[in-house]
Amino acid sequence: MDRPRILATNALFEAAQKLLNARCDVEYWTTPGSIPREELLKRIGDKDGLVCQLTDKVNQELLSAAPKLRIAATVSVGYDNIDVLACTRRGVVATNTPDVLDDTTADFAWALLMAVARRLVEGDAMIRAGQWTGWNLDQFRGTDVWGKTLGILGFGRIGQTVARRSQGFRMRVIYFNRSRVSPEIEKELNAEYVDLDTLFAQSDFLSLHVPLTEDTRHLINAGNLQKMKRTAFLINTSRGPVVDEAALASALQVGTIAGAALDVYEHEPQVSPALIALKNTVLEPHLGSNSLETRTKMAVMAATNVAEFFEGRQPPNALNPEALGK
Ligand code: DGY
Repeated sequence: MDRPRILATNALFEAAQKLLNARCDVEYWTTPGSIPREELLKRIGDKDGLVCQLTDKVNQELLSAAPKLRIAATVSVGYDNIDVLACTRRGVVATNTPDVLDDTTADFAWALLMAVARRLVEGDAMIRAGQWTGWNLDQFRGTDVWGKTLGILGFGRIGQTVARRSQGFRMRVIYFNRSRVSPEIEKELNAEYVDLDTLFAQSDFLSLHVPLTEDTRHLINAGNLQKMKRTAFLINTSRGPVVDEAALASALQVGTIAGAALDVYEHEPQVSPALIALKNTVLEPHLGSNSLETRTKMAVMAATNVAEFFEGRQPPNALNPEALGK
């Protein structure tokens, strides 16, 4: 076969480029920002493979514009940007980048949790504005993290990694997951399985780690927010649409819960003005896995999936290996 032609919608990193360039002819989108949809649809027409990111939708529209496409490798663990069923029907293998980002994303969930509990962003802003007039007993009074109850919604790899970090804070850990994890894992992480209502009712900090599916869309809605403690904080590093953002903003405005720290939004890159206007929110631009080390590993993983595929092997992170036989 001639060298496969690949479109990469990001410049990736040198290590990933090296891997891809050795085996394929690669066109990189190097302009800052996501590739515009029209450009993506235009450039994919003669490509055999795609390395994409979660802002690029690999759906029926893209597949129709890509008659030669055989693999779509997203540089993310979440793959709600890919219509896997449509890919399988077309014989296009889809891959993602699991595992390598668990610790980095868990670190970020903790950074958000600490920031919102201890009001780091407000304190920093006051100093930068030249408004600090000195120590005061009650200034930016925060909330203790240690000894509290950490609730984890979605107890897969990232949820468990978040739980592991709680031990130094002597927290009680409760979790809800579609299926209960093994007693060995529960024991190691000192984690207690509870039903969803108990999770909402007892968490002091509720951290979300579920994928976006039809079951999890708006799982955090007005009704479930009402079940939470008025002193509780919500942390979201999973996917924005898991939270009904309008309901969350109202809950924060009226004190249904105490605060929220968010890395992901319902309509990225738009962030609801109501959330921005609130002081009891910490808002970050989807940075969860964004360390140099981890993003490099993710890009290399996506490149490896593509390279392995074009060498005739099953890509290590195939989401639909059944597409290979088609
Ligand atoms: C992922 O990999 O799904 C993350 O959201 C990207 O940071």
